Amino acid sequence: MIRVAAVGDLHFRESYRGGVRSAFRTVSREADLLLIAGDLTGIGRPEEAAVLRRELSIVSIPTVVVLGNHDYHSDCEEDIKSILRDGGIIVLDGDFHKLDIRGTSIGLAGTKGFCGGFGIRQITPFGEIGIKEFLGHVEEETEKLDRALAGLNTDIKLVILHYSPVIDTLAGESPELYPFLGCSMLSIPVDRHGTDLVVHGHAHHGVELGQTDGGVPVRNVAMQVLRRYYIVYDLVGTGG
Ligand SMILES: [Fe+2]
Ligand SMILES: [Fe+2]
Repeated sequence: MIRVAAVGDLHFRESYRGGVRSAFRTVSREADLLLIAGDLTGIGRPEEAAVLRRELSIVSIPTVVVLGNHDYHSDCEEDIKSILRDGGIIVLDGDFHKLDIRGTSIGLAGTKGFCGGFGIRQITPFGEIGIKEFLGHVEEETEKLDRALAGLNTDIKLVILHYSPVIDTLAGESPELYPFLGCSMLSIPVDRHGTDLVVHGHAHHGVELGQTDGGVPVRNVAMQVLRRYYIVYDLVGTGG
């Protein structure tokens, strides 16, 4: 059994100092790895990431994250990635990471994702350049995820996104916001390559449970949805 702890949307600010350290005090005993699905910082300041890194140093299991829209707000996303990586945190942005846990190989593919809407309501890249660029970004994120997943041939495959790849986990959000909470395009590589679990955040007022058209479980792990600092999922590994 592989135990995966997951959360998103910490929105960490320097004034929260101490809170994360205390909340993650026991996670390394309860899980084999920790996933954080973006919006690690409040407004994307490197100072926030630096304090968060220190807080997360209490975690001794592999910690794998993607950034969210808040982490891009101050145009310091590259600094934030470096700060987190310097602390041993694995930051995925269209790439993958492999781990071996008790004889089971785990592959993690992650990227931020983006907006665009869902199913027949997905926005199409037609008309003005602004709309084409908007959709171009989610196409780019989808291709990044596709390439990352193509590199994995592990026993277990996990996907980390910030934006949702399915509409299911948005229930409770205003329908007017759906196109800004994710895009079903992101689910295409998930189903194409086969995935055991997708986690995402961003939809603070959504619900935890969903799945892709291909039946892959999707979990909205935004802290505001979980109403706690993390949840632990058990996945069956080949190593028992
Ligand atoms: Fe958020
Ligand atoms: Fe977000």
